[in-house]
Order: sequence, then C-alpha cells, then structure tokens
Amino acid sequence: MRRVMTLGSIDGATIAIIVAAGRGERAGGDIPKQFRRIGGRAVLAHAFDRLVEHSEIDGILLVTGEGQEQAVMEAMGGRSPIATILGGATRQKSVRAALEHLASAGSPSTVLIHDAARPFLSSAVIDRLLGALDDAKGAIPVLPVVDTIALGDNVLGEVVDRSVINRVQTPQAFAFAEILAAHRLWSAETDATDDAQILRAAGHDVALVMGDRMLEKLTLPEDFSAAEKVFAGSRSMR
Ligand code: CTP
Ligand code: MG
Repeated sequence: MRRVMTLGSIDGATIAIIVAAGRGERAGGDIPKQFRRIGGRAVLAHAFDRLVEHSEIDGILLVTGEGQEQAVMEAMGGRSPIATILGGATRQKSVRAALEHLASAGSPSTVLIHDAARPFLSSAVIDRLLGALDDAKGAIPVLPVVDTIALGDNVLGEVVDRSVINRVQTPQAFAFAEILAAHRLWSAETDATDDAQILRAAGHDVALVMGDRMLEKLTLPEDFSAAEKVFAGSRSMR
C-alpha cells in the first residue's frame, strides 16, 4: 500500500473520486442525501471509509457543491481526502472537474469514480473492478434485471429482452489517461449519467463485473429507512 497524502505525489497512483456535489432533489429532506446519516455516520463518510480502507487505493479526491462547505466538514468528521474541489451543474461536469484537477497535478494510472450516494461498497467489488482493468481500459459493476421490462407510457408497449440488459452501478474503474481523453471528447450538449458510456463512445470496450445489491444508490425518500435497516442488519452479522 502506498498512501498518497498530497496531489504532488499522484503519478502512477490509484485515486478514487467521490462525486458529492448533487442536491439530492428526488430524495427530499432538509439536507442533500450524501450528508444524511445512516447508523450515525454520514452517507458520504461511509463511502469514503470503504474506499480508503482498500489497500490498492492511494487517495481520495472529493467533489462537492457550492455552499456545501459546512455540511461537508460535519459529514467528513476529520477524514482527509487528498483534495476537495468544486463540482459542476451536472454529475458529468463534476467528474470532468475532478479529472482535470488530477491532470493538472500529475498522471495517476487508475481512477475509480464513485457516487457518494452509494454508501455500502464492498472490497470484493473493488477487487473485481481492478482485476478486470488488467484487460480493459474501463470496468463497471452491473446487476441483472429481474423484473419484466416493457416500453409504454399510458398503454403497454413492447416487452424488452431483459437478459441483454444490465443495471449499472458505481464505482467505475478506468485507466486515467483514457477516461480523461474520453471526457474531453464527449459533446458538451449531451448529459451522460455515468462515465462508462463516455469511455465507450471514445471507442473502448468496458468490462462488466458482478455488482452488489448493497451498492444500490440512495435516490428516493424511502431508500433511507431501508438503508438504515440494511446497515443495522449487516452490523449485527459481523
Ligand atoms: N452529483 C455531483 N454533481 C452534480 C450532480 C450529482 O457530484 N451536479 C453526484 C451526486 O452527489 C451523487 C451522484 O452524483 O453522489 C449521483 O447522482 P444522483 O443520484 O442523481 O444525485 P443528485 O443529483 O444529488 O440527486 P437528484 O438527481 O435526485 O437531485
Ligand atoms: Mg442527479
């Protein structure tokens, strides 16, 4: 393990980017979802701890939103990313800001890009992602779709073959040079909801590894009480 403590020493390193600059509008509540607490710890802090505890991750770059300084400080409770930067108006812009910040400081070999809103990340998922990067420039965790998937607005349309559909999660792992170049190529008008589609559009294959149900993104109000139960359950099993 080689823990990077400053941006000055990131050459060749594996850096995790946590995007936490969103407003969590669908989740509602008084504060953005990444700052709400589960088991007494902020959602963002859970994600940070799971990443920083992994032996192959050298440092964390945190992306936050304007006016969130106080909330970030309270949520982080003394945890130290290598840097905290301001994100943009969309997730894609927040990631781009992080990649450009890293590029201006050096040349990491690998980046993992993770949503702060996915607190329960396992080291096994990180292992699978980093393993898959031996043969690909990008790797992402996915889950199969178990429900019937059908088109339609008010009236039922065609049923889609679910066996060829994946639910895509984060963290997503990339060779740094390739994901940076892909982000720079991507059209500014089209908003991408994840980074793997940006790498793919630049002509690279993205490897799929098994995701984890615990990695579900906290998105809607009801997700928080469910997450609290999951967390309490996982703690009593340890
Ligand atoms: N995110 C970000 N910058 C943005 C928008 C989103 O860093 N401008 C981050 C969020 O903080 C979150 C992750 O991207 O950790 C996934 O986005 P999403 O679940 O959509 O979060 P929000 O945009 O905050 O939620 P909503 O869309 O409901 O407002
Ligand atoms: Mg959003």
